[in-house]
Amino acid sequence: MLLHQKAAAYAKKPHLFIDLAVGFVASPQHCTNLVHIGNLIEKKHRSKIKLQRAFEFSLTDCPIMQELILKTADSALRTLFAPAPARRPCPGVPMADTGTTLDAEERKEAGALMRVNHVGEVCAQALYMAQAFGARAFSGNESLARHMEEAAQEETDHLAWTQARLEALGSRPSLLNPIWYAGAFGMGLLAAKMGTHASLGFVVETERQVEAHLNEHLARLPVADTASRAVVEQMRDDEARHARQAQDAGAMEVPTPVRLAMKHIAKLMTTVAHRI
Ligand SMILES: [Fe+2]
Ligand SMILES: [Fe+2]
Repeated sequence: MLLHQKAAAYAKKPHLFIDLAVGFVASPQHCTNLVHIGNLIEKKHRSKIKLQRAFEFSLTDCPIMQELILKTADSALRTLFAPAPARRPCPGVPMADTGTTLDAEERKEAGALMRVNHVGEVCAQALYMAQAFGARAFSGNESLARHMEEAAQEETDHLAWTQARLEALGSRPSLLNPIWYAGAFGMGLLAAKMGTHASLGFVVETERQVEAHLNEHLARLPVADTASRAVVEQMRDDEARHARQAQDAGAMEVPTPVRLAMKHIAKLMTTVAHRI
């Protein structure tokens, strides 16, 4: 079938794009029928098989994909709209103490910096959940998926701590968190699609960049904001450990252009999140 004929067939049934997208991310062993939808459409044009035949193959045939998608959607909604449940106590002094010992300017700056760190943790949830999803959907690698989920759990502590600091400082999360989440999720899926070693390499590079960024924030946070500083110091140590763990699990070196692109994206995100 010519390309424009194929595009016209798809345009008549736009919801086929969803199934095709799912077919793209699904691993053959989990969901082979979905990736054949395009072939079915072609067959229809050749042998006049009704297009409705394509709909016989839908998500209802893929309970594993259904479960994965629902689990991932649940995680996204919890990250964006629910208070994060921390497993570890917040490091440092009680959260409310230092919010009142800062002057207005210091409190504003500390709030902006912790908003950036909170965005980073929202993105960490998205990256790890996308990579866990991808590990299962693309290659059926359950141990890698569990590695990603365990790291995401520790990142949940960071999410809770930064949320608490934002409240104590009278600040707020970024209004663009759903966009940050979606973008990071897409990047995580892309990394997962490239295989186990690339996926782990992406984790190593991300965690190293976050570690450097947190060190920079420690230099900028008001000295009197000991609560935020304690949180950031603990997060930095955790991120460094996440990088080491991913390295030990077999991460490959991320190519320089990818590393530079990641730095540029992170710079854009931190600049915008500082304000919005
Ligand atoms: Fe983190
Ligand atoms: Fe981390």
